[in-house]
Amino acid sequence: MKICFTTNNAHKLQEVREIVGDSIELLSLTDIGFSEDIPETHETLEENSQEKAQYIFDRFQIPVFSDDSGLEVSALGNKPGVHTAHYSGSRDAVANMQKVLSELNPEDSRQARFRAVMTYISSNGQLSQFEGIVEGEIASEMSGADGFGYDPIFIPEGYDQTFAELSSEVKNTISHRKRALEKLVQFLKSTS
Ligand code: IMP
Repeated sequence: MKICFTTNNAHKLQEVREIVGDSIELLSLTDIGFSEDIPETHETLEENSQEKAQYIFDRFQIPVFSDDSGLEVSALGNKPGVHTAHYSGSRDAVANMQKVLSELNPEDSRQARFRAVMTYISSNGQLSQFEGIVEGEIASEMSGADGFGYDPIFIPEGYDQTFAELSSEVKNTISHRKRALEKLVQFLKSTS
């Protein structure tokens, strides 16, 4: 089965390929010959996820799924949330992490979660959404070199290292994307 995953983020694509294995052939946006930016005009992960999937489905009429994910920090009123990708005003990961670290006061709770919302549109245009959450906390400083985005400051619940210090095998077992994808894969199995 071939499905377009609406990303050109090499790290995300790699993660998702590792998670779904050989059961699904994932095509990136580059693979389907799409090189524009997809609009993300809404204020929720659910709406942006749907918008991305619908945008590609309307143009290519192929099965497609999109992932909109964000970091939600409790003490910051669940920010950066939908603005996670360019929280500092740019996509620079270090600047984004520094902004989160600088906004947390010493007495604040460090509680946080990554949340992913996946939207799948089947070949006949039927739309389904799946959510995945990994709870954790914000570290006091950046540590680790693996992964991407905010991985160096996110310590998942039950661990004492950041996502950027943990192996990709561990991250891919517990991540928000893994949890949302599991639901999607179950859904695909039940409908095929
Ligand atoms: P997107 O809109 O789904 O591409 O995700 C928004 C932003 O969330 C990304 O640009 C990353 O900064 C951050 N993000 C999403 N997933 C992860 C993750 O697994 N680790 C670290 N950062 C992530």
